[in-house]
Amino acid sequence: MPRLVLALSLLTLAMSCGPSPEVEAINALTGVAATGQPLYATNCQTCHGADGKSGTTMRNVAATAKSNPTRLISIVVIGGFSMPSFSGRLSNQEVADILAHAKSL
Ligand code: HEC
Repeated sequence: MPRLVLALSLLTLAMSCGPSPEVEAINALTGVAATGQPLYATNCQTCHGADGKSGTTMRNVAATAKSNPTRLISIVVIGGFSMPSFSGRLSNQEVADILAHAKSL
């Protein structure tokens, strides 16, 4: 239990510091949806569905891409509770391309 409290405090601290430099850098890029589509199919579709709102999770990636693109970039770079981090597996431009595709869904 104390370890969980510590983990949650660190998470809160990390979130209160705002987007990381990597997230800011990706935010500044212009993504290409057509390039992002096959990247999304390979890396995201199993869990989030081709339409961005089905798959094994109940999350609406398509809606988040439009309403809060920084959140999408952050979770892809940093990871979630059960979602893996893609840091080092996707380039900044590839994340921007996936975001552009997710926005188009
Ligand atoms: C192994 C399954 C898995 C893969 C692969 C995966 N995700 Fe996720 N994703 C999740 C889960 C589970 C959540 C729920 C939040 C958590 O884990 O903390 C989530 C949450 C999200 C959210 C937040 C939605 C909201 O509620 O605001 C976004 C955006 C997202 N994923 C985008 C992506 C993108 C883009 C990719 C591909 C680069 C991807 N995910 C790959 C499992 C996955």
